[in-house]
Amino acid sequence: MSELKVVAVDGPAGAGKSTISKLVAGRLGYTYIDTGAMYRAVALKVLESKLPLEDEEIMIAARDVDIDLRNEDGVNKTYLDGRDVSTEIRTLEVSRSVSKVAAVGFVRERLTELQRSMAKRGGVIMDGRDIGTVVLPDADVKIFLTASVAERARRRYDELKAKGLDVELGSIERDIAARDKLDSEREIAPLKQADDAILIDSTSMTIEEVADKMIELINRG
Ligand code: CDP
Repeated sequence: MSELKVVAVDGPAGAGKSTISKLVAGRLGYTYIDTGAMYRAVALKVLESKLPLEDEEIMIAARDVDIDLRNEDGVNKTYLDGRDVSTEIRTLEVSRSVSKVAAVGFVRERLTELQRSMAKRGGVIMDGRDIGTVVLPDADVKIFLTASVAERARRRYDELKAKGLDVELGSIERDIAARDKLDSEREIAPLKQADDAILIDSTSMTIEEVADKMIELINRG
């Protein structure tokens, strides 16, 4: 058995981070940590509080939030204050508010601390926006996974359609572009490729091809 590594995967919305990270983690027997789900859970808490989506109110709503990621029979679950919110955090409403919530320093500090403690034991693949740059700067392997906006929007469209949702491609593309902009231009921990990260552009690659490439990099790293 090779030594257990810490793997950081960053990139914009819809690049395939969670699909690939989950697949690769399963093949290597690693734990997959979805940091986006953690930010989504905080956003859900803020929305449920009915407070306005402003920095001060976000801080109040997020002050004593309790977030937990659990693997139940091979399925990843997200818990917010002891409640399973794995489905609720995927709504369009949460997707549209999450980047605003994730830009608040207080929220990032709390979640970053939690994420670092989750990665301590190694054998971990963590995906997000700032994993290689801020959360785990000493990760053994860093990957920056991207794809064109049009391709990312098409993938997200297919995913939502498959869930039976009535969505429109143009509107998804606009939402993704807006989120990319907020995530890349925010002051704290913006989305950017770490200097020592390896870039994978998945625009014309299959899931299998990206997974194989990632496993090769992990074995080598
Ligand atoms: O799955 P998708 O790519 O749509 O997004 P996600 O990974 O679930 O992340 C949702 C949002 O959380 C992102 O658009 C960021 O605003 C925020 N996020 C972040 O700021 N830092 C992270 N490490 C992970 C997510």
